[in-house]
Amino acid sequence: MSILDVRNIYKIYGKDSSEVKAVNGISIKVDKGEVVAIMGPSGCGKSTLLNILGCIDAPTKGEYYIDGVQVDFKKLNNLSQIRNEKISFIFQNFALIKDLSVLENIILPLKFRGGPYKERVNKAMKYLKELEIENLKNKSVRELSGGQQQRVSIARALTQESEVILADEPTGALDEQNSIKIMEVLKELNKKYNKTIIVVTHDNLVASFCDKVLKMKDGKWDNMKNVN
Ligand SMILES: Nc1ncnc2c1ncn2[C@@H]1O[C@H](COP(=O)(O)OP(=O)(O)OP(=O)(O)O)[C@@H](O)[C@H]1O
Ligand SMILES: [Mg+2]
Repeated sequence: MSILDVRNIYKIYGKDSSEVKAVNGISIKVDKGEVVAIMGPSGCGKSTLLNILGCIDAPTKGEYYIDGVQVDFKKLNNLSQIRNEKISFIFQNFALIKDLSVLENIILPLKFRGGPYKERVNKAMKYLKELEIENLKNKSVRELSGGQQQRVSIARALTQESEVILADEPTGALDEQNSIKIMEVLKELNKKYNKTIIVVTHDNLVASFCDKVLKMKDGKWDNMKNVN
């Protein structure tokens, strides 16, 4: 059984002449432990699709099953539970809280799961070390460069230790060396814990780390041979 199963999903913005079909009938099945890249030109709907997969946004129509259970996009509780327990998301714009420190940002999502504070900090430190940014832990996000913010947002997602990791341009602000580092960490998590990973990217180097590359164009798959 696929861990993620998307059936004929649409996301339509606006009406009549101003209608935009950001996602225009997409189906995809992703198996547990797969690492998938989604590529395609700017504006083709990659972030919109990933946001739906991450239960951050609801589709206009279509069905979505996670572990065989249909996602009910009308139930906010259901969506936040999925985001809390199953899926962690690396945002294209980092989505960090500027007034908090790096460490505070990273442990914030863990707060909703309870457990001792010390455990949360230990988990955060593990991934800060892995991404070689432990020296940033007490800095305010305001003091960080774009690339540093990107790595903090990745550390925050990894600290949640979810089964599925969705990453929207996780290396967009990074140089080649740091891009490779991020992909190596993601691949290691995939190998060690059988994590399922979907990465939206413009970068062929990032795609080269993935088991499968899917191409999107105008809200659809560009090459149907890609889709299982
Ligand atoms: N909230 C919105 N309201 C109206 N149109 C939107 C909205 N969000 C996205 N769109 C449109 O949907 C289309 C797909 O946008 P999306 O952000 O998914 O593209 P993308 O493939 O991620 O692009 P990029 O590579 O630049 O990040 C675009 O035409 C965009 O203008
Ligand atoms: Mg995008």
